[in-house]
Amino acid sequence: MDADNVPSEIVETLLTEEQIQARLAEVAAQVDADYATSDLLIVGVLKGATMVMADFARHLRSHVTMDWMAVSSYGSGTQSSGVVRILKDLDSDLVGRHVLVVEDILDTGLTLSWLLRNLGSRGAASIEVFTLLRKPEALTVPINPRYVGFDIPNVFVVGYGLDYDERYRNLRQVAVLDPRVYGG
Ligand code: XMP
Ligand code: MG
Repeated sequence: MDADNVPSEIVETLLTEEQIQARLAEVAAQVDADYATSDLLIVGVLKGATMVMADFARHLRSHVTMDWMAVSSYGSGTQSSGVVRILKDLDSDLVGRHVLVVEDILDTGLTLSWLLRNLGSRGAASIEVFTLLRKPEALTVPINPRYVGFDIPNVFVVGYGLDYDERYRNLRQVAVLDPRVYGG
């Protein structure tokens, strides 16, 4: 789906397909270089990171293994609660592994800080973060992702994996949702 297909629901396209792919290629080249001598496990956080994982992984030129974790922090609203539940845990053992957590968006950071604490107790050799999007103004806990795709303003965005009430994940762009859609 394109932003043009739902013009009345979108205020603005923040990132085009081309911008996203170009940046993913840059980050992938950096990751290839940084992990040239180690086996990498990339962990996608469901469901938002599905598109980033699929495209980012294919931009990489080295072998990686892929695993998935599902956590819930938002329900169907637009505010982070900081209350995180594991809906699906990893299949992999992290002992001795170099892990890169791939996230769609870093907003308040509450979800990721919880996740990093949780994963941090599993004996990995290293754990780093790649987030496609970051809202610097919204960050309430100190988190330093090693790789950031784009810094964006503190607005609710959808598309490229990100949903509002499970819709818009299949939008090719990252777009600002019209507040009327969520009654704002
Ligand atoms: P926090 O605030 O804990 O948020 O860093 C992390 C999770 O909240 C979701 N999130 C969003 N989802 N548009 C969305 O569709 C947004 O603007 C947005 N901000 C946060 C997302 O699942 C993220 O992993
Ligand atoms: Mg997410």
